[in-house]
Amino acid sequence: MDLGQEKAAKVLADCESVFVISHIDADGICSAAIADIVLTRADITHSIAFVKQLDDTVLNRLPDAPLWFTDLGSSALDFLADRKAVVTDHHQIAGDWPPIEKGERSTLDAFESPTECHVVNPHLKGLDGGVEICGAGTTFLVGRAMDRQNEDLAHIAVVGAIGDLQDRRSGRLEGINRAILMMAINHGTIGIIEDLRYFGRETRPLTKFLQFAEDPKIPGIDGEDTAMRFLSGLDIPTTRDGHPLRWIDLDDYERQSVVERITQLVLIEKGEVPLSSILGEVYLLPEEDPGTPLREAKEFGTLLNSCGRYGFSSLGLDVLRGDRTDSYLRALDLQRNHRRNLMDALYQVRERLDRQGDLMFFVSPPSVKETIVGIVANMLLGRSDVPELPIFAFAEATDPFSEESMIVVGDAHVIEEAVRPDEEQEKLLKVSARGPRSLVDRGLDLGVVMRTATAEVGGFGGGHNIAAGGVVPAGTAETFMRAAEKVVEEQLGPGWARP
Ligand code: C5P
Ligand code: C5P
Ligand code: ZN
Repeated sequence: MDLGQEKAAKVLADCESVFVISHIDADGICSAAIADIVLTRADITHSIAFVKQLDDTVLNRLPDAPLWFTDLGSSALDFLADRKAVVTDHHQIAGDWPPIEKGERSTLDAFESPTECHVVNPHLKGLDGGVEICGAGTTFLVGRAMDRQNEDLAHIAVVGAIGDLQDRRSGRLEGINRAILMMAINHGTIGIIEDLRYFGRETRPLTKFLQFAEDPKIPGIDGEDTAMRFLSGLDIPTTRDGHPLRWIDLDDYERQSVVERITQLVLIEKGEVPLSSILGEVYLLPEEDPGTPLREAKEFGTLLNSCGRYGFSSLGLDVLRGDRTDSYLRALDLQRNHRRNLMDALYQVRERLDRQGDLMFFVSPPSVKETIVGIVANMLLGRSDVPELPIFAFAEATDPFSEESMIVVGDAHVIEEAVRPDEEQEKLLKVSARGPRSLVDRGLDLGVVMRTATAEVGGFGGGHNIAAGGVVPAGTAETFMRAAEKVVEEQLGPGWARP
């Protein structure tokens, strides 16, 4: 499990103060929380800033202090090569690293940095940063290397990995994630159960739990009525003592009858059903109260996304640090808001889904925030009436510092100056891309598609093979899509979409 964390830990341990830059999603917030706790324990003063992405506006305003990039940084290593910095990330690396002449590279250890910038990233070991380990995981490895006591933070790395959907490929955490999971289990902060993997086991009313079930959808359930009928057919009530029942409220017999019925229905519709796609590992946090979103890793991750993607990453950070009062209550409000927004967005965007060649795309209405279009694209991709093709989602990009740039810990003034943009921003479009696993297995790499096609129209982007994002100048969407089509064809071969 050597990803270069020991060297990175030494660099950080020698710093008096550190400026942490993290991403606004669940994994980014988990990464920042680990960095924050680790630095506090080591008595290293620090500030934390959350950003939507690492663009020039951010890079040109970094303070003159040692930097720790968490859950981002790998797209900007050229820029960071001369800085005293640690990057704990899992995104694909843009360009060459370590920064030396190509011929000499093979003589260097992947983590040997001839500069003061140290990168901890699974891609340097040829591992897939989409499934092996997330940003919070790499940050955790460095924290643990600084002090073994920090191993008690493993559950935060698990929530980060689940928040980033790293368990999607096999229905369970794999690779280094699994090793980190085991540490959390040893510390009693995570427990594994075998159960339905649908979202909302702790908090959703049963009807909604079934109605919005995905991957696989439950055949015949397409709304509240059909969900109710499904339950009454099994003699399962939807309320008890006037309260809506949730999945966790059912007894073993009731749960088993639901699982059997779903399996039957999927079998009838699809002809076969690997039981593992319905049942699988569910990760619980035993120290949290049952019936709250903090009790289960997927719901916890969504709560954090509900904060960060709306400009309130600091609330998620507070919750990870243990707040169960003010910040937690606000986070719950934001989660309700997030659920509503996703439903509204899905409804509006469904009509706008279009095709260019063999790629799907939609341009969101202004009411749909750029920070959630990727989630919406993913939801569309999971629907049985949507073809299994890559999907590109466009949304108007807003000022990167309008709400997301905030000061969480440390000296507000320094960060304020560090990140406040002073010139007019050119109008930009945010692009999010998501691909079906089946195409990724055949060679689709959306990270590469995004890097290449955004560069062709004067934008920038990157990410993972299965999910990537970027920014392009307004008015270039069509040219971008043509460039993307070309790269996808190079990856999958001519006529790839026709069987
Ligand atoms: O920035 P970061 O790497 O943390 O985000 C990973 C993104 O990839 C998340 O938005 C996650 O939802 C997405 N993803 C996905 N499908 C997968 C794995 C990850 O859409 N199978
Ligand atoms: O923003 P979105 O959810 O679509 O991002 C998908 C993946 O692409 C995430 O892992 C994100 O960090 C990454 N991304 C990136 N560079 C960007 C935008 C997104 O690497 N400019
Ligand atoms: Zn991540």
